Amino acid sequence: MSGPQIGIGIVGYGMMGKAHAYGYAVAPLMRKLPYRPQVRVISGRDATRVAAAAAAYGIQSWVADWGELVRRPDVDVVDICTPPGTHAEIATAAAAAGKAVICEKPLAVSYAQAASVRDAVERAHVLNAVGFNYRRLPAVSLMKRMIDEGAVGKVRLVRGSWLSDEFVDPTIPFDWRFDRSMGGSTIADLGSHLIDMATWMAGPVDEVSGQSETFVRERSRREVTVDEASSALVRFASGARGVFEMARTAVRRPCDLTLEVNGDRGTLVFEYARLNELLYGDGQDRADLYGMRRIRAEHSSHPYAKDWWPIGQGVGYGSSFVNHLGDLLERWPEGPWDPGFAQGAAVQAVCEAIERSAAERRWVQVAEVTAAASPVRP
Ligand SMILES: NC(=O)c1ccc[n+]([C@@H]2O[C@H](COP(=O)([O-])OP(=O)(O)OC[C@H]3O[C@@H](n4cnc5c(N)ncnc54)[C@H](O)[C@@H]3O)[C@@H](O)[C@H]2O)c1
Repeated sequence: MSGPQIGIGIVGYGMMGKAHAYGYAVAPLMRKLPYRPQVRVISGRDATRVAAAAAAYGIQSWVADWGELVRRPDVDVVDICTPPGTHAEIATAAAAAGKAVICEKPLAVSYAQAASVRDAVERAHVLNAVGFNYRRLPAVSLMKRMIDEGAVGKVRLVRGSWLSDEFVDPTIPFDWRFDRSMGGSTIADLGSHLIDMATWMAGPVDEVSGQSETFVRERSRREVTVDEASSALVRFASGARGVFEMARTAVRRPCDLTLEVNGDRGTLVFEYARLNELLYGDGQDRADLYGMRRIRAEHSSHPYAKDWWPIGQGVGYGSSFVNHLGDLLERWPEGPWDPGFAQGAAVQAVCEAIERSAAERRWVQVAEVTAAASPVRP
């Protein structure tokens, strides 16, 4: 392979290990990058399975110990694709070894842990990024750009929901997703993406009032310690108001993310089921055109469009990883990378405020979470 390269090590070979391997393989096809990513090693605890994954993903070597991956001199970037309860320990070790770190969302399983790992990468002066890949869908990026350009005016309301049927079947055996200390929560699993996008577009959240429920409380004779469905009323620092809902118990809803912003001039709506489109209602439009227009977020003037297929062909979920990793690789080695661990920790604080609010049945200020936490070392 010719030209300068970046050595990547991927920790974890599950769904996200595969998605990131795909992103590194496709990013240099879609845009010209100053350095070519080379995934040099992947790690997993089960040698047979990680070896099979390495072969399937086209990765030249594998190890059964992530510590070995972190220490390898040919690895410049440690890309963490394991369950949330493992992120802080692996990211802290990677930063201490002087590696750049990309970490899947949510950054950690508590705000204290997230703040600690944010501090670790800042102390080590290493590039860091969180896997908020939905930002990199062209239509979501266009929505952000239009809001910044004043298309909706002053933001008044933000409405986000993420519905899935992942936990509907009560016979699904217990795994890390049902364990609070390893999986985090549904608030953080689905909600972290929503909160990232909402705060990217409308600024920080000040205060929340949440509720949570776990309908199936035992699986494989083990106690389920995560919420299955949660929702929250939200007050943004700007004075805007919002509602978030995240549920893994919504029958026949596979991954139904919707995000709507209403300003004093217009409305923008993104629906994941039609991910190449945006709905836009402009209050200054002609009265006889009252309603919402459907924007095809594929025009050459739109974000990422020039990297992709001719207008009308659309992109999919995989493209969000290609765009995300492409943006990071393009900025190698100077950076900055965005969103970084600081945003990961800020999102975690909102998740924890919702969790606390649901437990204590009261409005909780995000500042209560950030002020109370003394960062812990993982
Ligand atoms: N950005 C997205 O669109 C998106 C989508 C799904 C999952 N995720 C996130 O990616 C991360 C991984 O999720 P996934 O769906 O790939 O999970 P997965 O279960 O498919 O894979 C998890 C991987 O981590 C390994 N693993 C499990 N427990 C471990 C432990 N205790 N220590 C070390 N390794 C362990 C598994 O062997 C496997 O390789 C999670 O943080 C999840 O929230 C992000």
